[in-house]
Amino acid sequence: MTPFKLRAWQLSDIDSLAKHANNPNIAKWLTNQFPYPYDKQAAETYIKMVANDHPQKVFAIEIDGEAVGSIGIFPQTDIHQKSAEIGYWLSEDYWHQGIMPQAVQEIVAYGFRTFDIVRIYARPFSTNKGSQRVLEKAGFTLEARLKNALYKQGAFLDEYIYAKLKP
Ligand SMILES: CC(C)(COP(=O)(O)OP(=O)(O)OC[C@H]1O[C@@H](n2cnc3c(N)ncnc32)[C@H](O)[C@@H]1OP(=O)(O)O)[C@@H](O)C(=O)NCCC(=O)NCCS
Repeated sequence: MTPFKLRAWQLSDIDSLAKHANNPNIAKWLTNQFPYPYDKQAAETYIKMVANDHPQKVFAIEIDGEAVGSIGIFPQTDIHQKSAEIGYWLSEDYWHQGIMPQAVQEIVAYGFRTFDIVRIYARPFSTNKGSQRVLEKAGFTLEARLKNALYKQGAFLDEYIYAKLKP
């Protein structure tokens, strides 16, 4: 596995973010808030949105000094306040090395030690077998299949919910 580290996003990452995120093979698995094409303006807006959170919620995945992916943990509100959702993507240049299962385990440990939560979950598309595998390798359990919960690129899809409880 190529060594990586999780660290804060910074404005100097605009070029690398616009380069690695600009990929339809990534955008097709995410919400429509993740655009394709992904230009430098989108990169700057994103970094400005996530860079100043305290505690930090979104981390750049850095390889060889370059930001090549992102992983975030988002505590919920109201009656869901003890749960947090995670989301992630990685540059296609680095897929299939086991990087994201490791990054998910790091963000889970960070989440349980930083936020007052008991449950961390993710919501991959039913067709996203790669992400489901990531979650299984990181110790998550499939809890639910929501029929036709998603409408993406003109098609209905099922949404899966995977979760991990605080030990
Ligand atoms: C999903 C993603 C994060 C995986 O990251 P990664 O670091 O490459 O993860 P891994 O190295 O564990 O490789 C993916 C695993 O899924 C498996 N996989 C990938 N595509 C698959 C498919 N179509 N069917 C079955 N298994 C598949 C791989 O074989 C591998 O498992 P293995 O190690 O047991 O062989 C990355 O592909 C990505 O960024 N995708 C686009 C964005 C995305 O889907 N984000 C998640 C939204 S919920």
